[in-house]
Amino acid sequence: MQVVSGIQPTGTPHLGNYLGAIVNYVKLQDEEEKAGRKCLIFLADLHAISMPHKPAELHSATLEMVATLVACGVDPSKTVLFNQAQVPAHAEMQWLLTGTARMGWLNRMTQWKDKAGKNREGASAALFGYPVLQAADVLLYQATHVPVGDDQKQHLELARDIAQKFNNDFASEDAPVFTLPEPYIPPMAARIMSLRDGSKKMSKSEPSEMSRINLNDDADTMAQKIRKARTDPEPLPSELEGLEGRPEALNLVTIFAALSGSTPEAVLAEHGNQMFGHFKPVLAELLVEKLGPLRDRFVELKEDREALTAILARGASQARELSAPTLDSAYKALGLVRGR
Ligand code: TRP
Repeated sequence: MQVVSGIQPTGTPHLGNYLGAIVNYVKLQDEEEKAGRKCLIFLADLHAISMPHKPAELHSATLEMVATLVACGVDPSKTVLFNQAQVPAHAEMQWLLTGTARMGWLNRMTQWKDKAGKNREGASAALFGYPVLQAADVLLYQATHVPVGDDQKQHLELARDIAQKFNNDFASEDAPVFTLPEPYIPPMAARIMSLRDGSKKMSKSEPSEMSRINLNDDADTMAQKIRKARTDPEPLPSELEGLEGRPEALNLVTIFAALSGSTPEAVLAEHGNQMFGHFKPVLAELLVEKLGPLRDRFVELKEDREALTAILARGASQARELSAPTLDSAYKALGLVRGR
């Protein structure tokens, strides 16, 4: 098992990033460490240039996300933690794989269709090639398991297709260049929705600050956001079926369950029949208890650019070493003599 995953360095991280992705990184990191292996987690800063972005903010956003990951428990001595820009093998491998990826495959990617919208002619070639870079990210390290959200499954299938075709076209059957990676959807991955609209994912791009709990919110702000979260006037049901058609209520129960390491069923068994006036303060208290210490670590670490830079430098040097053999074999398989 080789775990590799990437996360975009986008702005201030929120509860959705934490419960949806980061908690699972930490769990995998600790399980893998027991088995004598290291996960690779990287900041996808090269991917960030596929959309309009602010160059002056990209590196700070990257550092901020590193601070988040570490504050939340990703341990740079157990996990190889780095950013793509410091490991040229990612960009090199992407180019090698563009010879194998087919236009038709990329044209079918829903993220490409969504992000390019009606203006495909004006979209960047980087946006079109985005999934090829993502394939390079994981194939470089012979990844077997790639923790991702549901929306990234299609990109992982594409990475498999690219790996398979490359192996077919350029490698002998008994010495494939790439391992076929699989998406790993963690069993407990919580999908956290906006506090204003239970049908939308919690996201930093939603204009209202009240829609999300940011990891740097202080205790009062967190509690206030929960208090003001949209709900309905009904009490909580005591069983899951009772939450059907009540996305906001389901969301608060999901958050409660994820924070307490429990399940929505168990939360309802305990808090069923409560009104939100009663449930929300309990949830707010739990949130502050769990997130408060992470917040304090995050706020402190965020200011320590030197420490963050050192973490990334160390991770990058490990990643460069780990990626070298596969990059070498890919060059060789294609008939290229690699420069040094
Ligand atoms: N595209 C992923 C996202 O938006 C981020 C990402 C980039 C990634 N490269 C990756 C995830 C490789 C897993 C593996 O969430």
